[in-house]
Amino acid sequence: MSDVKTYPVPASAANAHINKAQYDAMYARSVNEPEAFYREQAEQFLTFSTPFTQVCDYDMTKGEASWFTGGKLNVTVNCIDRHLPKRANQTAIIWEGDDPSVDKHITYAELHEQVCRLANVMRERGVKKGDRVCIYMPMIPEAAYAMLACARVGAIHSVVFGGFSPDALKDRILDSDCRVLITADEGLRGGKAVPLKANADKALASCPNTHTCLVVKRTGGKVNWTEGRDIWYGDAVAAAASNAEPEMMDAEDPLFILYTSGSTGKPKGVLHTTAGYLLHTAMSFKYTFDYKEGDIYWCTADVGWVTGHSYIVYGPLCNGATTLMFEGVPTYPSASRCWDVVDKHKVNQFYTAPTAIRALMGAGNDFVTKSSRKTLRVLGTVGEPINPEAWEWYYHVVGEGRCPIVDTWWQTETGGHMLTPLPGATATKPGSATLPFFGVQPVLLDAEGKEITGAGEGSLAIKASWPSQIRTVYGDHQRMIDTYFSTYKGYYFTGDGARRDEDGYYWITGRVDDVLNVSGHRMGTAEIESALVLHDKVAEAAVVGYPHDIKGQGIYCYVTLMAGTEPSDELKKELVALCNKEIGPIAKPDVIQWAPGLPKTRSGKIMRRILRKIAANEIDSLGDTSTLAEPAVVDELISNRANK
Ligand code: WTA
Repeated sequence: MSDVKTYPVPASAANAHINKAQYDAMYARSVNEPEAFYREQAEQFLTFSTPFTQVCDYDMTKGEASWFTGGKLNVTVNCIDRHLPKRANQTAIIWEGDDPSVDKHITYAELHEQVCRLANVMRERGVKKGDRVCIYMPMIPEAAYAMLACARVGAIHSVVFGGFSPDALKDRILDSDCRVLITADEGLRGGKAVPLKANADKALASCPNTHTCLVVKRTGGKVNWTEGRDIWYGDAVAAAASNAEPEMMDAEDPLFILYTSGSTGKPKGVLHTTAGYLLHTAMSFKYTFDYKEGDIYWCTADVGWVTGHSYIVYGPLCNGATTLMFEGVPTYPSASRCWDVVDKHKVNQFYTAPTAIRALMGAGNDFVTKSSRKTLRVLGTVGEPINPEAWEWYYHVVGEGRCPIVDTWWQTETGGHMLTPLPGATATKPGSATLPFFGVQPVLLDAEGKEITGAGEGSLAIKASWPSQIRTVYGDHQRMIDTYFSTYKGYYFTGDGARRDEDGYYWITGRVDDVLNVSGHRMGTAEIESALVLHDKVAEAAVVGYPHDIKGQGIYCYVTLMAGTEPSDELKKELVALCNKEIGPIAKPDVIQWAPGLPKTRSGKIMRRILRKIAANEIDSLGDTSTLAEPAVVDELISNRANK
């Protein structure tokens, strides 16, 4: 990799919070003296109502971690109340609607009132500390109010992305037994309505314990109504009191559950707790984006994903920042939307996914260069590896060589950034997530589970606890241990592979398990396979990812039909519709190849390695096929592979 370019810290970042010497010193202290380091950070970033008595206590062999034990705090006091003396009239949230002529500024005082009112509504409906509340919302301020109102009363929120189907919503509501659902009549994205309430009705038909459904009127579209259960959000909050006492929580009380896909079975309810999560997101927000007083920060993620939780809501608000929330999509009404919004609201930090960068790059430079973008200072990416070409375009065309790029590697389970450059400290290399964030101790493990030293490639694992570490999988603690803490004893296993270069920089090589990353959305191949085999004409299905120019990965499905069934385009359509119904539009197969047989070992295990190679057109490097039960099926699959 001798042709790898290195970009020094741009001159514009000379006055950043953290320079290289500070990063080196703080990082060393964070891993050598974590107790002292985190005590100071917690004192700087958080406000406790009862001080903690112990900084941390953990056992990586058991996956147990406890941070700031003995401390009591409420997340909304930290994200709202304590800012009021100074920031009551400062904008907390800028909301940019789907329609470019619609926007709204919400001050910290208004945010406080909205959150308190909704907290009171929830309390009136019986919600109390520890109860689970499901949030299925478009990108409107009420989504943030709903999350924060849960935190106000000590309820655990479970946000379900608005693009998930009724079946997927139902599964998540049932898994964590959510008694209340907060949704909207319809969402609006790219000028199209998304039928959230209709989806919610279908889901709730199978959720007898969910007694309350609060509905925000977003579009005024027609909805069905179940008396007693359904309540208009607007009417309810208008009638509620505007102040609500915060429920003081133990540092380790749960804050939220967020479902994410793994390599096997149904999505897991990743559980995060209060103090550690808030500290890590607050610290990383400030340092990674070099957020300074008065800056306008914009993350384009949806609150249905962890990026929206940590870097639209909790990290920014804990810092008293102004966070922009965008209802629409980057290409509507045109591919210049992002840059128009940057100019309109004078955005200083912009954080998005490589898939969006690739799509905008494909639309052509004119959409970018006709905007000013002079307020931009830091550009971020998240969600999947960024190819150097897209990185260079982002750096030179969008940032005009002036803005450092922070390529942040992390996961739903890690709560916040784990590997990332810091704008004023880290020279960047296109495609590398560079160096660990404070307190994070990454290691590369070889096939025997031994730590690799120096440059090399292996499985990426983390060897010491960090504050926003996953605490459990809701309702199935053993599954958390099996998934993350058993593959390599004494380490948190990420599921990603990585390479470390001579400078100690990390390059994520992608998942080493059966998890796909399609447009930055994480999906288990098993989930898609389960959907496909529900069709009574399907005998077996195997799903793999393949390289896709825009999405990063596309979904390639090999489908074996029941004996006597004729393949047809009609059947393909039915299978696509089935994935849409079971999971949602994000799980749409890109390719379906009819497979008379699948390559299996003699013990019956599908050899996905071979299927991945065929899908990627890498048929010269199939590797060892000698263990196959029937090598001929491979030739058949190769000669009939799809032309993508
Ligand atoms: C991938 C999203 C390369 C990775 C925050 C990880 C990345 C999975 C990056 C987690 C990055 C995320 N470079 N790969 N900067 N960021 N990933 O849980 O495979 O939706 O394991 O969290 O996305 O996805 P999740």
